[in-house]
Amino acid sequence: MTSVSRQPALLIDSFNRLHNYLRISLTERCNLRCQYCMPEKGIDLSPANHILTTNEILRLVRIFTLYGGVNKIRLTGGEPTIRKDLIDIIRGIRAYPTMKTIGITTNGVLLHRFLEPLAEAGLNSLNISLDTLIKEKFEFLARRAAFTRVITNIRLALDMPKLYPLVKINCVVMQGINTDELNDFIELTRDQPNLAVRFIEYMPFSDNKWNEKKYFPYEAMLKIIKQKYNLEKLPPNDKNDTTKWYRVNENSYQGKVGFITSMSEHFCSTCNRVRITADGQLKVCLFDNKEMSLRDALRSGATDEEIYSLIQRTLYKKEKEHLPMNDLATSENRPMILIGG
Ligand code: 5AD
Ligand code: SF4
Repeated sequence: MTSVSRQPALLIDSFNRLHNYLRISLTERCNLRCQYCMPEKGIDLSPANHILTTNEILRLVRIFTLYGGVNKIRLTGGEPTIRKDLIDIIRGIRAYPTMKTIGITTNGVLLHRFLEPLAEAGLNSLNISLDTLIKEKFEFLARRAAFTRVITNIRLALDMPKLYPLVKINCVVMQGINTDELNDFIELTRDQPNLAVRFIEYMPFSDNKWNEKKYFPYEAMLKIIKQKYNLEKLPPNDKNDTTKWYRVNENSYQGKVGFITSMSEHFCSTCNRVRITADGQLKVCLFDNKEMSLRDALRSGATDEEIYSLIQRTLYKKEKEHLPMNDLATSENRPMILIGG
C-alpha cells in the first residue's frame, strides 16, 4: 500500500480570499503609551501564563506555514522588542525555506540594541512608528520621553541600507495634531532612497480617543501635500498591497510616500491577513471582535492537523468587510495595544 500524501487546503475564506500573511503579537506590554493605541486608564494585562510561549508561537508558525502556505509574518505587540525571545522567534521563522517576508513593527525605542541581531536572524522588513517630528508633541502623544532615542534609532537603521534596503515609517495622521507636519514628513524622503513614509488614517478602537473631528482622510492629506509637491503615483508592490504609493516627482526625492486608507477606502476585498494576539487568540479581522483560542487548542493536546482544521473553519466565517467607520467607533473590540496592529 502506498501512503497518500495529501496537500492540505490553503487558507481560503468563503469570499475566495487567500490568506498568506500572518501577524503575531508577541506581547501586550509597551514602553510607550500612544494615545491612539493605549487607553488612558491602561489595560489589564493578561496573566503571564495566558501569553503564548516561544514554543507555542513557533508551533503555530509551523502550522500556518506548512499547512496554510503562509509566507509572510509580521511580529507586532505591544512592543515586540520587549520580548526576550524575539531573536529566537525570528530565527525559528527563518528556518522555513518558503518564508519570504519576516517583519516587525516597532516604536523604535530599543532598536539600537537590535538592528544587527534582527537582520542576522532573518528579519527583512522593518516598520517604525513615528507620528511627529516635534519632541514635545511626541511626549504628549506617546506619554513618554523617548523622542531623541527614536529619531537616533531611525537614523541608525537608515544608515544600514545593506541590512535594511527599505525602512518604513508609519505615521498615524490626526486632524489638529499632526496634520501641520505632513510636508515635513515628506521632506524626510529627500535623498533617502531606502525610506518610505506611510501616512495611516486614524482608526477607532476601544478607548483610543478617536472621534470624527480627529479623523483625517486620505483625500484631505493629498490636498495639503499637493499644494507644495508634485506627486507621482507608483504601482502597488503586489495585489495585496494596502498602501497607495507615490513619490515626489523631483530627482532629489528618492524615498517613497504611501497612504493607508483603511477608513476612506478599505481593502477588505483583497485582504490576505490573519492575526494572533499575544494571548493566543486567532482574529481573522482587525475590526471583528470574534476570537478563537489557539492557546486552548494548543494546550488541549490537539494535533497539528486538528489545529489547522480549527483555523480553517474559523477563517471560513470571516466577514466580507468591516463596518463603516462610525459604526466601528461604537462597536465592541479590543484596544489596539491588545490586538497588535
Ligand atoms: N489608527 C491607525 N493606526 C494605528 N496604529 C496603532 N493604532 C492605530 C490607530 N488607532 C498603527 C501604529 C503602528 C501600526 C501597527 O498601527 O502606529 O505603526
Ligand atoms: Fe481585512 Fe478585516 Fe482589515 Fe478588512 S478590516 S482589511 S477584512 S482585516
